[in-house]
Amino acid sequence: MPTSNGALPVEHGVALRAYNTFGLPAIAHTLVRVTSDADVRRVVDHPELGRAPKLVLGAGSNLILTRDPEAVVVRVEVRGRRLVEERADAVIVEAGAGETWHDVVAWTLDNGWPGLENLALIPGTVGAAPVQNIGAYGLELRERFESLDAVDLVTGRSVTVDAVACRFGYRDSAFKRSGYGGLAGKSVITRLRLKLPRPWRPVLGYLDLERKIAETGNTVPDARTIFDWVCAIRRGKLPDPAQVGNVGSFFKNPVVSAEQCRDIIARDPHIVHYPLADGSYKLAAGWLIDACGWKGKSIGRAGVYDKQALVLVNRGGASGAEVLVLARAIQESVYGRFGIRLEPEPVVV
Ligand code: EPU
Repeated sequence: MPTSNGALPVEHGVALRAYNTFGLPAIAHTLVRVTSDADVRRVVDHPELGRAPKLVLGAGSNLILTRDPEAVVVRVEVRGRRLVEERADAVIVEAGAGETWHDVVAWTLDNGWPGLENLALIPGTVGAAPVQNIGAYGLELRERFESLDAVDLVTGRSVTVDAVACRFGYRDSAFKRSGYGGLAGKSVITRLRLKLPRPWRPVLGYLDLERKIAETGNTVPDARTIFDWVCAIRRGKLPDPAQVGNVGSFFKNPVVSAEQCRDIIARDPHIVHYPLADGSYKLAAGWLIDACGWKGKSIGRAGVYDKQALVLVNRGGASGAEVLVLARAIQESVYGRFGIRLEPEPVVV
């Protein structure tokens, strides 16, 4: 039961199974919900919670809980959506970090502000989107990022953070990194501003979207059509976390040098690879895992999704430890066959 300390509701012994999309069991010794910057400052000023390590939680859609977190869990529930500004070059919108990402994408389209349609149906909250620089179907969050507001968990100060300070990378940002220069657990993102460029231009380069163009004969889809296509593609190959526990892609797509890529192609001519601007190559981790025969397989109650080998799923009642056993077995077989070390994409606690 929540106990009250001033205006800040602090809960103890909270089951986290419903708070992570893989449905993993763990208990938060202390959980506090924040709905505003002022709430975050109350956590910072709190006599016991202020100095304790923090685990910042949104929808838990990129989190693998292998144990009860030692940190105080800060669940971000900041709401609100608004139009900030209509400029000649872009529409700027803002959303609270606790809003559901997909609902915000749909809201922008309903209001006639296209630009986020390729990122439809990505599970999770608005606040989590910049943390791992979400991306899909040829678009990454950083390409639509204007700025974000965060509250420093040491000073309690609200700051506005620009793209440079976020240090976005592929499924990465300063907010995901701990250690030197990293901001994981050091600040709470409370609001995100998105920049939707004008004039709108469709992003259609991704193979699955090119297939939709070929299937439908529609070579000039509008944003709503792209949104519908992306939703249909995702529903076809990714499990709905409301039905089957998962965190989307479990590993990042590895990047290798041109030389390594040539070696692998010589052995496996069918390997799916994409050239990058710097001369290196990105390999499809799903293909590598599939090639090792993992699709549809399980270890204990953790499994590999039968329509996309990059997605690990909860077959019912899995523990975080079981998920890690499966993940390690996959890493070993991919390393054994291709000499490539797959790196997990979600945050592992
Ligand atoms: N493939 C296989 N077998 C599989 C899975 C994939 O052969 O079991 C092949 C596919 O045929 C395709 C290639 O691998 O040629 C790539 O597959 P897909 O288009 O499904 O994309 P992905 O690289 O596996 C990435 C992102 C997804 C994102 C999609 C679409 C990462 C780690 N994953 O997946 O993001 O939705 O592209 O843009 O970058 C996520 O981050 O959680 C996520 C779901």
